[in-house]
Amino acid sequence: MPPPTVPEPPGSHPGWPARLGPVRVGEHVLRLRPVRLRDGGEWARIRLRDEEHLRPWETTTHGGWARRNSSVEWPGRWYLLRSSARRGLSLPFAIEVDGVLAGHVMVGNVVREPLLSAYVGYWMDSRLGGRGITTAAVALVLDHCFGPVRLHRVEATVRPENVASIAVLSRLGFRREGLLRRYLDVDGAWRDHYGYALTAEEIPPGGFVAKLVREGRAARA
Ligand SMILES: CC(C)(COP(=O)(O)OP(=O)(O)OC[C@H]1O[C@@H](n2cnc3c(N)ncnc32)[C@H](O)[C@@H]1OP(=O)(O)O)[C@@H](O)C(=O)NCCC(=O)NCCS
Repeated sequence: MPPPTVPEPPGSHPGWPARLGPVRVGEHVLRLRPVRLRDGGEWARIRLRDEEHLRPWETTTHGGWARRNSSVEWPGRWYLLRSSARRGLSLPFAIEVDGVLAGHVMVGNVVREPLLSAYVGYWMDSRLGGRGITTAAVALVLDHCFGPVRLHRVEATVRPENVASIAVLSRLGFRREGLLRRYLDVDGAWRDHYGYALTAEEIPPGGFVAKLVREGRAARA
């Protein structure tokens, strides 16, 4: 379904708050919901344990990983995420696997008329990696962004070395549009990133989750 061309009322931010899923991936049940204040303990446990897994791909955290990912940091971050979502600028989703926090899919930099564009970013608990869970979570978010949120374009940027993230984007049909030199300060330096994107004209028949279901990578729960 192509996005609307009629102007939207100022301050409009359709599609938030939202709960997405459930979807089954292997033996796991996946759901997405808005991030919440009481995520702090689990958020910190995963991110402190997974520093080596996450740090090479995430924006540089001034003040040190341990401090910036401790549970006392979460309320401030959560508050900023919630206010930006309430203003229609982002959709900060927590990924729950079998009812437990496992990662995030963040839609950010939402620009409405005339661009109707945003970017997507994500991370996943390393203990649950390689099972297709992030791919399915991003598929749910894309169906939501091109559906109720009424975006026309979703972008993602990724370091050329990030094989797992490039696999997620490629599986979902993102197109590589170019190389962005020294695009983002990641892990202590300005790093080149590939720019990927999808537009509404490229939605697979029935949507992104339907595509994964057809490929046997997910099932409707
Ligand atoms: C990128 C990331 C979110 C992928 O999560 P995930 O749940 O493992 O992803 P999936 O299981 O859906 O895997 C998607 C693909 O990546 C492949 N993959 C996963 N980990 C991989 C690895 N370490 N090396 C190579 N391929 C890998 C899977 O085999 C799968 O490929 P396929 O679709 O061809 O079978 C996760 O590795 C992560 O959190 N990385 C650190 C943060 C990060 O890089 N965020 C993105 C920044 S752009």
